Amino acid sequence: MTTIAIIGLGNMGKGLAKRLAGKTDLILASRDHAAATAFAATLPAGVVVLDQASAIAGADIVVLALPFEAALEAAGNPALKSKIVVDISNPVKADFSGLAIGHTTSAAEQLQAAAPDAKVVKAFNTIFAGLFDLPAAQTVAVPAFIAGNDEAAVAAVVELAGLAGFAVEKTGGIDAARLLEPLGMLNIRFGYGLGQGTGIAPNWIKLAA
Ligand SMILES: NC(=O)c1ccc[n+]([C@@H]2O[C@H](COP(=O)([O-])OP(=O)(O)OC[C@H]3O[C@@H](n4cnc5c(N)ncnc54)[C@H](OP(=O)(O)O)[C@@H]3O)[C@@H](O)[C@H]2O)c1
Repeated sequence: MTTIAIIGLGNMGKGLAKRLAGKTDLILASRDHAAATAFAATLPAGVVVLDQASAIAGADIVVLALPFEAALEAAGNPALKSKIVVDISNPVKADFSGLAIGHTTSAAEQLQAAAPDAKVVKAFNTIFAGLFDLPAAQTVAVPAFIAGNDEAAVAAVVELAGLAGFAVEKTGGIDAARLLEPLGMLNIRFGYGLGQGTGIAPNWIKLAA
């Protein structure tokens, strides 16, 4: 069975953990080990809490459920070599008014540069954390947009997204993160700035030719 490590137990990390617990081998890592242990106790049995280094060492897939800057720092960990690393971040400015980087690069590409021997895959950045708390039946048609250069790594994250109760829209190589991160920002604008709330998600409508 694939072992997935989730680093960072904020809204997204916890949400993903709730969707994945009991369906795959799951390791959680947090700066607050006691809080993580208490959270793990609320999940189906078999979820392990470890420090970040041990979590990375024991995982096939490492989800960096961190703010971008913290993810970038974590990406410098040499233990990520040859691991599949899932970048879920939207590199937003501190005041959420827009993206701090983009167009000619992306958070995912910067993480890939910081962890050149890892296989970085972008996923979940257009999915609001609250969606993980809905019954999975309500999100099975919601696409997790996925981008990555390594075919096997992308396939593994496609499987992860399915396990977590989402549909999948593959978008090509990691450079597609330059498009997905502005899409995540647009989602934030709709959700917060334009008052639609966070029970929304972008989808692609396929019309007949
Ligand atoms: N919230 C959303 O709806 C949403 C949607 C799509 C994408 N995202 C992206 O997902 C990532 C996580 O978002 P989130 O909403 O889960 O954020 P969050 O609730 O603030 O959680 C982030 C977690 O990262 C850990 N962390 C480690 N170093 C940190 C640092 N220096 N500063 C702050 N936190 C640090 C903390 O977990 P521990 O205390 O357990 O270590 C913290 O709880 C972000 O990159 C965000 O852009 C969020």
